[in-house]
Amino acid sequence: MALRIEPLRRGHRALLADFRNQHATLVLYLQRFATRHGERDLLSRTFVAIDTVGGTERLAGYFSLSAVSVERDSVAVVPALDRLPRFPVPGVLLARLAVDGRAQGQGLGRYLFEEALGLTLQLARSGPIGFRLLVTDAIDQRAVDFYGHFGLTSLGDGLPCRMALDLLPLVMRPAR
Ligand SMILES: CC(C)(COP(=O)(O)OP(=O)(O)OC[C@H]1O[C@@H](n2cnc3c(N)ncnc32)[C@H](O)[C@@H]1OP(=O)(O)O)[C@@H](O)C(=O)NCCC(=O)NCCS
Repeated sequence: MALRIEPLRRGHRALLADFRNQHATLVLYLQRFATRHGERDLLSRTFVAIDTVGGTERLAGYFSLSAVSVERDSVAVVPALDRLPRFPVPGVLLARLAVDGRAQGQGLGRYLFEEALGLTLQLARSGPIGFRLLVTDAIDQRAVDFYGHFGLTSLGDGLPCRMALDLLPLVMRPAR
């Protein structure tokens, strides 16, 4: 698998139609809204994983990032965050992450998650703004388990389930 990650742009349009995922909303978002939200509306930025097999390119997965603010009371389940002042906690929202059904179970979900976390940490370490969390809204129980595997904590019981990762220990650790 020859894989590269690129910011989504109009030039990728021909690759979008073939993307498949068990959640129709995640396919629809990529095909209909992601480019416009990134280029015109400034609501999110999407990054796509392009796989080249035998000279043919395929969009194997994607993730989208936005800004978010989380109610202070909802992060009290994380002891380190319960010590913060009583106002909303800023973070980066991993708004969507999906792998093409034909490429699942081969490590691409991990690769995309680590890329999203890497970009977030880069911004948290040296960007001109401060924020404390990586946040996501897990779409179903499998997604809750997937993000739990990477250390995110559920902030509630329902679905979609808001989950968060405290970035402080990672920001303090030297970048590899
Ligand atoms: C969730 C999803 C992104 C996982 O992608 P994937 O390419 O199949 O995942 P990977 O093969 O990279 O697995 C990564 C790791 O997560 C683990 N994992 C994958 N799915 C898991 C699950 N449901 N529960 C627990 N762990 C899980 C794997 O065992 C693997 O662990 P390891 O790297 O330590 O061995 C993919 O199944 C998908 O697109 N699902 C539908 C959309 C979705 O739920 N998106 C996320 C929430 S909106």
